[in-house]
Amino acid sequence: MGQVSMDTLVSLCKRRGFVYQSSEIYGGLASAWDYGPLGVELKNNIQRFWWREMTQLHDNIVGLDAAILMHPRVWEASGHVENFHDPLVDCRQCKQRFRTDAIPEELWAKRQCPECGGQLTEPRQFNLMFKTHIGPVEDDASIVYLRPETAQGIYVNFKNVVQTARVRIPFGIAQVGKAFRNEITTKAFIFRTCEFEQMEMQFFIHPSEDEKWFEYWKAERLEFYRKLGIRESRLRFHQHGPDELAHYAKVAFDLQYEFPFGWKELEGVHNRTDYDLRRHGEYSGKDLSYLDDVRGERFIPYVIETSAGLTRTVLTVLADAYDEDEAEGEKRVVLRLHPAVAPVTVGVFPLVKKDGLAELARSIELALRGEFSTFYDQGGAIGRRYRRQDEIGTPYCVTVDYQSKEDRTVTLRHRDSMEQVRIRIEDIADTIRKATREYRRA
Ligand code: GAP
Repeated sequence: MGQVSMDTLVSLCKRRGFVYQSSEIYGGLASAWDYGPLGVELKNNIQRFWWREMTQLHDNIVGLDAAILMHPRVWEASGHVENFHDPLVDCRQCKQRFRTDAIPEELWAKRQCPECGGQLTEPRQFNLMFKTHIGPVEDDASIVYLRPETAQGIYVNFKNVVQTARVRIPFGIAQVGKAFRNEITTKAFIFRTCEFEQMEMQFFIHPSEDEKWFEYWKAERLEFYRKLGIRESRLRFHQHGPDELAHYAKVAFDLQYEFPFGWKELEGVHNRTDYDLRRHGEYSGKDLSYLDDVRGERFIPYVIETSAGLTRTVLTVLADAYDEDEAEGEKRVVLRLHPAVAPVTVGVFPLVKKDGLAELARSIELALRGEFSTFYDQGGAIGRRYRRQDEIGTPYCVTVDYQSKEDRTVTLRHRDSMEQVRIRIEDIADTIRKATREYRRA
């Protein structure tokens, strides 16, 4: 099928417990979402997939988990206090507020409101950082910010990591965590929210090698989404023009995905030069240069940053996986999730509850639990049980029937092809492992 509509996706997410509106019983909070039982599994699995890719599959990347609250000088040094603004306009008639880049060009040229056609004000700069106070006194000396990017936690720990982790340039520091931005345009579900999660990696290099490493990380990041099973035809790069570049970036590419509402940024790959380390050196008075004993040279490293939104990747994975086809003459909704990130890996069902089939199915499910995320279901017709698992993207289902008692074999059903194969109980885990390793989206 073509693109899923956002309404269909949002309704599936709610119905099956992937994502709920924040504070729904109070009428909801427009820019925040909660991840339900299946959503949190999917999000955690994607995070693990990224973490493994970055820290395990590259021998020169280490991890970090810095605090959200940081010294306020960090955000002066980083340039966020001065530059992290969105140009906003108000409609004089309906009083709604918009980011100028979210207004269609033809309307912006006439300064016309996209909602009511009213006259728009001239743009004003609006800082996106959330401000709060630390301690009991709410004065200027106690201001702290909720971090708008995780990257700064990495820069301020650069020296610590170099001194304690025996890393040598080129090397990277990876981090996953919450970030906060006071976004005005927060439509489109979990695409743009005020509270979100990022998966960022800062790769520290010799300044002369920035172009080489920039190309390397662009290719690596595209490959990551291919491995995650995202359709390549819906991925592309977009280079930032001079008016799009963030204050810290020399070169920037967005890796875009074709969402149901159009091509939008999924991840940014940025050449941040020595901007951040140099500024933190200046503002803190600490020497953040690096002594390269192979080159016999001291310098401030350049940084190639890969910055992905975890929550935005959840939306990408769901939108990309959603499909409809037909099974036994009925419409089937199926999430073609990569088995490595599916919330449930294997459903286990007894054909009927009686005659010892439930006990045998339970014992199989218990044996698989140690390694896979399992779900036991003995309620309703077997076709309906398959449909329920298809809809949440469970890649494998095991069914125990009367023959299982005689020869200790079961049926293993594959979600995408709906193919059913007879295998021995002791081969289930191996078969799942192999199918997951070799998974390619049809
Ligand atoms: N450290 C660089 C940085 O933060 P960015 O392009 O502003 O760069 C990187 O953000 C990624 O973070 C985006 O590609 C997107 O996936 C995610 N992101 C940014 N703002 C977001 C928001 N308001 N809601 C959800 N995800 C967001």
